[in-house]
Amino acid sequence: MAKSALSFVCQNCGAAYNRWQGKCESCGEWNTLAEEDTTGATSMPVSVRSRRKGRTFALESLAGKSQDAPRLPSGMAELDRVTGGGFVRGSVLLVGGDPGIGKSTLLTQTTSLLARAGHRAVYISGEEAIAQVRLRAERLGLADAPVQLASETSVEDIVSTLSEGSVPRLIVIDSIQTMWTDTVESAPGTVTQVRASAQALIRFAKKSGAAIILVGHVTKDGQIAGPRVVEHMVDAVLSFEGEGSQQFRILRAVKNRFGPTDEIGVFEMTGLGLREVTNPSELFLSERDLGTPGTAVFAGIEGTRPVLVELQALVAATSLGTPRRAVVGWDPSRLSMVLAVLEAHCGVKLSGHDVYLNVAGGLRIHEPAADLAAAAALVSSLTNAPLPTDAVYFGEISLSGVVRPVAQTSARLKEAAKLGFGRAVLPESARGEVGSDAGLTLNAVGGLTTLVAEIAARGLKGNRESATSEKNATPARFRRQEG
Ligand code: TYD
Ligand code: MG
Repeated sequence: MAKSALSFVCQNCGAAYNRWQGKCESCGEWNTLAEEDTTGATSMPVSVRSRRKGRTFALESLAGKSQDAPRLPSGMAELDRVTGGGFVRGSVLLVGGDPGIGKSTLLTQTTSLLARAGHRAVYISGEEAIAQVRLRAERLGLADAPVQLASETSVEDIVSTLSEGSVPRLIVIDSIQTMWTDTVESAPGTVTQVRASAQALIRFAKKSGAAIILVGHVTKDGQIAGPRVVEHMVDAVLSFEGEGSQQFRILRAVKNRFGPTDEIGVFEMTGLGLREVTNPSELFLSERDLGTPGTAVFAGIEGTRPVLVELQALVAATSLGTPRRAVVGWDPSRLSMVLAVLEAHCGVKLSGHDVYLNVAGGLRIHEPAADLAAAAALVSSLTNAPLPTDAVYFGEISLSGVVRPVAQTSARLKEAAKLGFGRAVLPESARGEVGSDAGLTLNAVGGLTTLVAEIAARGLKGNRESATSEKNATPARFRRQEG
């Protein structure tokens, strides 16, 4: 009497249950359980298990020597920056991103560059026919690169093919969702299959020393589809992001066992493939709406690199009972917090206004240091007062309305000075840190109230000049608060 190996597996997180239920108790998602045959994936038969005797192995010391340079530079500096200096031998990397963002393009370019440099590079496409991959390479002007190409989906076939000849330095599997292995019964794309296929490929990478890049699909809420488990299995997870309508693409390390996780690589999608952008600040500021109310330049840090980026805010009167708050490229809860602080401590009434905030260029900001720039843009839009065109802003806002210092002040100031900015609005406590030789005029603010008052004063002045005929053009938006 064989026990049935059928079980219900959550397609979101991979948790297994022996009966169907509506909600996955592990990840909380609804309707994600699907019946899968997990024979072979779970365990070997008891008879085999009990007979196997443990074998002894040698234990190593931490201070051992590795034989040769473990990293292989990809030929693209922006990619190397994100991986931490190139592909590590025997490592497995997962690259996730929306469909059409340019994953296949990026990896075609990398494999071609490596192949041209004389390394064995293999590109396995499970999604596209060979002709399609060739067409792309032709378009990229890389058709002459000696990349080894195949359109295959069986992991066993792939592993035995690649075990022959010299060890490939880089293998691209596009994508892991299309791969399947004989060892499990369920259909390709299910969690069990994806996990088993990834396992087999990772085992091959560790054994042979080849670096493998797995391409992973992303669901509409931005997670790498299905196999969250795969994220735990691989050495690094890179996410390729960008707004569909924008040309900029950002490669970000979400997890990296061999390098930092806060670096970004910036690319531009052109008719000839992805072009590396070495100075992202120029890119994010290139089409600046100079002097329009509601725009502020944020001096940010991405990894080790300073990046200046424009924040755009629109605050518009609304007739809706619940005003809209929409934000692109920044954390919505961070926006709510800044709005609450403005309302509670600075007397800025926003409950009757829709608020929109956008980070220009498709960049996604994770730093709390953007608080001050966001607040400046919001107040500027509300009061219709353009901010000084030569100013950059950075600083974290605390719930009490105090502007708190942030890390790497001098790197931010240096980048701003390099790009021709004349002044920086920054936390009070950061001023002592830089001294007088910053190359910029420093406008230190201790609290958010100071900043709001400064911007409002500009707005009042500007409106008085421009609207002499129109009496009462400036509504009393600001209610001075005592204490
Ligand atoms: P692709 O790499 O196929 O995306 P993914 O593998 O992430 O699904 O890229 C698809 C998009 O990129 C497609 O919309 C066309 C565009 N593209 C260019 O703009 N220029 C190019 O040189 C190439 C090859 C693609
Ligand atoms: Mg693709």
